Amino acid sequence: MNMGYIKLALYKVISFDKIPSTQTTAQELIASHRAGDHSVVVAAAQSAGRGRFRRKWVSHHGNLYASFIYACEERDARLSYAVALAVADTLFSFGIVPTIKWPNDILVQDKKISGILIEYYSRFVIVGIGINIASNPTVPEYKTTKMNDYITVSEQDVLGRLMKFLDKWMKSDFATVRSRWMSLATGLNTNVKYRGVTAQLIGINENGALVLRCGTRYVLAYGDEILI
Ligand code: BTN
Repeated sequence: MNMGYIKLALYKVISFDKIPSTQTTAQELIASHRAGDHSVVVAAAQSAGRGRFRRKWVSHHGNLYASFIYACEERDARLSYAVALAVADTLFSFGIVPTIKWPNDILVQDKKISGILIEYYSRFVIVGIGINIASNPTVPEYKTTKMNDYITVSEQDVLGRLMKFLDKWMKSDFATVRSRWMSLATGLNTNVKYRGVTAQLIGINENGALVLRCGTRYVLAYGDEILI
């Protein structure tokens, strides 16, 4: 395993060629005090990339696989929306028009181009971001696409812009994040399954909870507890 360090923008970038998962390596580097706030672990490929719902994240060479580390006192449901906007703006900056599927799947023409996995570890949050650039896997759960279907870009270019937009959105007040997220969200006002019941997706509230309407009642949901 080859490892390299560089300082880029506000970040310490720790890069590897192929490792099992940047999320796991980020945890190991935090534990051994070799990574901390504003470190980012990047891999050219992953042999055990992981996604939400314990899914595998297929990770061939040519795509972006990065885990951003931030100091963090407590869990914050609002974070995933700011991260989704950073990825969305990165794509916009290359002329690609994305939408966001709650909470933070990034789609282009209804196909998934990027996934975000947020994990808390020790006094840090590790924000794992995968962006399909050169290849997109075929998976049973959803359709996928990649940046190179629209424009030819390098992982370095995408990483540089992503860092800039992460800084922008993570510093923004949540009212701004919320209204921008709602403007890019797909599926608002459609029906979803919540605890086995059909509910209408209304939006997100000021704390980052998902607002659903079940008949005449409004319900708040957090995390992965609904199926869209
Ligand atoms: C999802 O299920 O949509 C989230 C996918 C997250 C994938 C990224 S790639 C970089 C980081 N390392 C991992 O093992 N997973 C995340």
